[in-house]
Amino acid sequence: MPENTNLSDDSAPGSTPAAAHPLRGGSPAPDDRFFRHIVDSMRNGVMAIRRDGTVAQMNDEAYRIFGLVRDAGDIGAPFTEVLRERPDASRALAGAFELSFLPNRAEFRLKGLDRVVGYTLSRVRDDGDEIVGAVMFFKDLTRVEQLEERERLRDRLASLGEMAAGIAHELKNPLAGIEVMAGLLRRQVSDSKDAQSLLADIISEAKLANAIVVEMLEFVRPIRLQVEQTELSAVLHQAVTLAETKAKRGDVVLTVNLPTDIPAIDGDEHQLCQVFTNLLTNAFEALDGHGTIDITASVGATDEDPAVVREGQSPTPIVIVDVSDSGPGVPDELTDRIFNPFFTTKPQGSGLGLPIVRKIVDAHDGRIDLNSCAGGGTRFRITLPISNSTGWFR
Ligand SMILES: Nc1ncnc2c1ncn2[C@@H]1O[C@H](COP(=O)(O)OP(=O)(O)OP(=O)(O)O)[C@@H](O)[C@H]1O
Ligand SMILES: [Mg+2]
Repeated sequence: MPENTNLSDDSAPGSTPAAAHPLRGGSPAPDDRFFRHIVDSMRNGVMAIRRDGTVAQMNDEAYRIFGLVRDAGDIGAPFTEVLRERPDASRALAGAFELSFLPNRAEFRLKGLDRVVGYTLSRVRDDGDEIVGAVMFFKDLTRVEQLEERERLRDRLASLGEMAAGIAHELKNPLAGIEVMAGLLRRQVSDSKDAQSLLADIISEAKLANAIVVEMLEFVRPIRLQVEQTELSAVLHQAVTLAETKAKRGDVVLTVNLPTDIPAIDGDEHQLCQVFTNLLTNAFEALDGHGTIDITASVGATDEDPAVVREGQSPTPIVIVDVSDSGPGVPDELTDRIFNPFFTTKPQGSGLGLPIVRKIVDAHDGRIDLNSCAGGGTRFRITLPISNSTGWFR
């Protein structure tokens, strides 16, 4: 991208008088038009500003990534105004004039949109080497980050799986031995009440240890999906019933808000049921008998990075299911950890509930996002593709 094109400074030496800006009247010179076409056709977001902080150029991809709607008044308006709803982006762009060294590759997170954006900044200089503006090139990295995160999780699970299989192998036999021998001893000391009760404890603890080993093996085993047309309403209904058996519901008010036109999705009914059972169990546990849980669903389409979506490929239709509770929320410092296997804040928790949810959602090529503020409730958003006709499922 040439750094001193006319798009940043019409009055710069070298700009032809005919190169009037199209949005400010007059017909642009062919060169100017060509440069604008380059910028508009780019699969990166491009936003250029003048030295006075007004917007010189912003392409469609920039609007898409920032989730903004183009307004004819944007060109010429202060960039801080145009990016009012995206303070993270505004701050990054402001760095173009403030920093002594411009980052070659940096990232910011658009908090409102939960999007990760990778960007580079360049200063625009005119023929006299005067700084006349700045330009930011950027890319939506959300999908790339998700894929990397999924890869990392798979690697972690693979090594964890090997370890778990080894431990399970070593533990299963001695545990079975303890259980059998405690049973034999029980018969030999049938006249001692104390010994009977101690042996009963030993047997039940051995059983518990065995159950943990089995659960761990279950978790690390690769998922095989039995994909069929699955009605979300049936899945949610079963999940509510199951969660009620796992945690105390008390006076919690639960509302399910499903539009009537939600289509059946291609998924594994049993596994999806487990997803919502685990989320609802956590919500019941967080609420401790008081509060509200809302489940809402809607239909949408993936708004993917055009660099990932092949040309001509339409966005994937998806369903979005939000499970929100009015509980205490997840503290900021824990939000990165709650999906880690065995992470728990509960005395009786195994910390496998959410990792299993993530694993199942991943296998459906969906995603799970957490929106939580300590003290302000928790919302888990599950996004699932409606159809597997694209061959996305393994
Ligand atoms: N709805 C929620 N509100 C507040 N914190 C939550 C919520 N859901 C999950 N958490 C936090 O995330 C942690 C991990 O959850 P996860 O379901 O993986 O394990 P667990 O519930 O602790 O144990 P398990 O589900 O295996 O019995 C929880 O211990 C809790 O701190
Ligand atoms: Mg749980």
